[in-house]
Amino acid sequence: MQKYRIITYGCQMNVHESEKIAGILTKLGYTEAKEGEDADVVVFNTCCIRDNAERKAMGHIGMLKTEKKKNPSMIVAVVGCMTQQDGAGKALREKFPFIDIVLGTSNLALLETYIPSVAASRGKYVDIDENELPPINENESFYRTSGTNAWLNIMYGCNNFCTYCIVPYVRGRERSRTKEAIKDEFLRLVDEGYKEITLLGQNVNSYGKDIYGGEYGFADLLEELAKVGGKRRIRFMTSHPKDFNRKLIDVIAEYPNICNNIHLPVQSGSDKILKLMNRHYTREYYLDTIAAIREKLPDCGITTDLMVGFPYEEECDFLDTLDMVERVRYSNAFTFVYSVRKGTPAAKMPQVDPEVAKDRIMRLIAAQNKITKELSKEYENKVYEILCEDFSPNKKGCVCGRTDSGRLVTFEGGGDLIGKFVNVRITRSQSASLFGVTEE
Ligand code: SAH
Ligand code: SF4
Ligand code: F3S
Repeated sequence: MQKYRIITYGCQMNVHESEKIAGILTKLGYTEAKEGEDADVVVFNTCCIRDNAERKAMGHIGMLKTEKKKNPSMIVAVVGCMTQQDGAGKALREKFPFIDIVLGTSNLALLETYIPSVAASRGKYVDIDENELPPINENESFYRTSGTNAWLNIMYGCNNFCTYCIVPYVRGRERSRTKEAIKDEFLRLVDEGYKEITLLGQNVNSYGKDIYGGEYGFADLLEELAKVGGKRRIRFMTSHPKDFNRKLIDVIAEYPNICNNIHLPVQSGSDKILKLMNRHYTREYYLDTIAAIREKLPDCGITTDLMVGFPYEEECDFLDTLDMVERVRYSNAFTFVYSVRKGTPAAKMPQVDPEVAKDRIMRLIAAQNKITKELSKEYENKVYEILCEDFSPNKKGCVCGRTDSGRLVTFEGGGDLIGKFVNVRITRSQSASLFGVTEE
């Protein structure tokens, strides 16, 4: 049996696209190589959101050189966001001539013809969508690897052009799938028994603008999916604060199967920096949105992305970001040091001293950790419904799952609980981790 290995970097979008790649490879008769097993096909699904994501992928690809020497028939493919940057596909092949196939972000389906072709020694392929990205291919097969949770793409691309971000350049403009296609896939996932379905898009709140011109939006779609009978959870990500509307809050409040968990990346707490980032909201607008969420969804877990060291960021701007963190009290925050992305407007702005940025990120992480710890304490001695997802990766004899608000809980139990909803009393917390015992 021929084996494959897929190495995935980046966001959920990529994790989900790797399931498509696995689907294609399964169709071609390959099975997944186990840990330590040699593979006949290796696919790198890359990310270029920050410099370190690219460096990590380049390092791993480089390490394959000796393996390929030992096993020249091994097929190496590099796909995803990194290859989609201007000229990157060709540069990659020049740096690593042993790569057989380079594809972009939306023509992954070509692996189905290119892999057999390379296997029959019919050459090498570099095929990136340089111009407009093609329309959505609705006929993809998936090999889902996510257990109880299934990802469901509702749209591709991004129109926002935040000045630091590479995504609109490598993923193209927003392309929404039709509501019928989404609902069909949702119903299939329900039939297959998935207990949690996560809707994916770079900015789910602008769903439908391109194909329905504002007549039908994300709140309508979410409501339609929430009305499908049966017990399950629906999550979604990512929401852009500028498009997060009150109608959406009402829909989340009305349907218990929509999780009270919102990822609302703020990036910075400074109006000056938000403007330079082209985010289209102010700190006041953002805080109003948070207040509206808290009013209707008091138990909602709110998470965010934060960046420090963006061009022109001064100490007072950073203090505004710290103040934002203190005011909102996020249940979790993903914190990043700004990384220059070639071709984006911010790359041409004056850069902040890396030492200053380093100092700020440490202070930011410390502030958020303190809040996370305090919020975790509030969970103690209360009972939550947990969707049990898997065996615990850290604790023997334990399983883990999430609260509706998105917090990870570890508790004693066996494989029979996986995929089930169980009531768990939280007995102890340790920073972001919650531990508990099941209750009748
Ligand atoms: N579409 C989503 C997420 C995009 S990428 C959104 O709009 O929120 C995820 C996060 O990576 C961003 O929210 C941002 O915080 C971070 N990010 C993006 N570009 C970056 C850069 N050049 N340097 C550092 N962090 C970056
Ligand atoms: Fe990047 Fe901004 Fe689009 Fe998010 S909304 S993907 S940060 S350009
Ligand atoms: Fe990375 Fe592309 Fe996602 S750049 S964060 S994998 S959209």
